[in-house]
Amino acid sequence: MLIRYKKTFEKIAMGLLSFMPNEKDLKVLQQTIKQYEMEEMWQLFLWKEEDIIGLIGVKEAENSLEIHHISVNPSHRHQGVGKQMVCAVKALYGDKTIQPNEFTAAFVGKCPAPSEAE
Ligand SMILES: CC(C)(COP(=O)(O)OP(=O)(O)OC[C@H]1O[C@@H](n2cnc3c(N)ncnc32)[C@H](O)[C@@H]1OP(=O)(O)O)[C@@H](O)C(=O)NCCC(=O)NCCS
Repeated sequence: MLIRYKKTFEKIAMGLLSFMPNEKDLKVLQQTIKQYEMEEMWQLFLWKEEDIIGLIGVKEAENSLEIHHISVNPSHRHQGVGKQMVCAVKALYGDKTIQPNEFTAAFVGKCPAPSEAE
């Protein structure tokens, strides 16, 4: 299930974020977390099963929702978690068009549209 990021999840969130190819530098990583904490339009979600195993970060624009970060714990990959997170975020922001960025496009492009997922 998708849960909202809060400060108590900072360490696990930074660990998951660090799997993104553009978040390898600690300073960049710290700035990214700060942005999600401080800026209203930037929203970070975690995927919780028994443990927290995934993360998806989005930026709300007027008519679209940009997916900036998506990451799954390596021990839980290839089990559909990544696609479930994209579907859950699409459902949460139903009226907005999903817009990946250059770092998430390859994966987000593989996720089915909500109608196909049913
Ligand atoms: C990308 C990522 C979130 C996928 O999570 P996941 O839970 O394993 O994904 P799912 O099980 O829902 O889907 C697996 C599918 O995604 C594909 N996939 C995995 N990583 C991918 C990538 N970087 N680009 C494109 N497709 C990718 C797999 O090949 C697989 O395809 P298939 O269904 O045709 O076999 C995970 O591999 C990850 O955390 N990667 C490191 C962070 C990263 O690079 N994020 C940006 C990705 S563009």
